[in-house]
Amino acid sequence: MSYNTKKVSIVIPAAGMGKRMNKDINKQYIELKGKAILAWTIERFDNNKYVDEIIIVAKEDEIDFCKENIIKKYKFKKVKDVVAGGNERRDSVFNGLKKVSENTGIVLIHDGARPFVTDEIINDAIKEALQNNAIVVGVPVKDTIKKVKEDNTIVSTPNRKGLWAVQTPQGFSYELILNCYNRGIEEDIEVTDDSMLVEYYGHSVKMIIGSYKNIKITTPEDVIIGEAFIK
Ligand code: CTP
Ligand code: MG
Repeated sequence: MSYNTKKVSIVIPAAGMGKRMNKDINKQYIELKGKAILAWTIERFDNNKYVDEIIIVAKEDEIDFCKENIIKKYKFKKVKDVVAGGNERRDSVFNGLKKVSENTGIVLIHDGARPFVTDEIINDAIKEALQNNAIVVGVPVKDTIKKVKEDNTIVSTPNRKGLWAVQTPQGFSYELILNCYNRGIEEDIEVTDDSMLVEYYGHSVKMIIGSYKNIKITTPEDVIIGEAFIK
């Protein structure tokens, strides 16, 4: 079931190196309570009633492993394809976007390493993306943020009131995000999230509230926090 006649598609980039995790295996396959992080993440979308299809982006040499040990093992129903990623997250997302069904209305892009996304956040993201064309999920920052020079001298302290930490999912009309990616890749624009490309080409993007629990598993202590969330 969809919100409208067009599909709701999910792209999950999971093709990174996990360098900051400092482990032998790609962090997506680290287990939390006996289940791989990526499996926790996919399950959230596979079980959401508004999601029609899911594209997973994996490292080329991990595609078979992902199919066997994640998709088949947990019998996910909505995974349409597992495609190879690229050097940068941007390239991985682009590869995923190209595999999305043509009659897709809304695409949500969500980090494979962010397993605590909830039904509530997914539903909100889909609804808001339908209304606004481009949305990101985030939370107001808790700490004061400072801009610091390379020699560690502080340059400025932006007012905390307007500062948000950005999470995923980020949701877009399929037409808009594909256009921005086509141009962004062609023009080699460097970005750290998907919204940045959309902003770069002058489109407005709406921030919607996520959750402080919707963390990305990035460094070893995040694994400990993640295990605690599952208890
Ligand atoms: N990602 C990807 N392709 C890349 C780089 C990142 O699909 N070339 C994915 C990661 O697998 C992850 C998500 O994008 O699920 C967010 O990226 P990040 O947390 O930075 O993961 P890594 O790049 O794997 O970690 P690190 O930066 O520590 O190496
Ligand atoms: Mg990275």
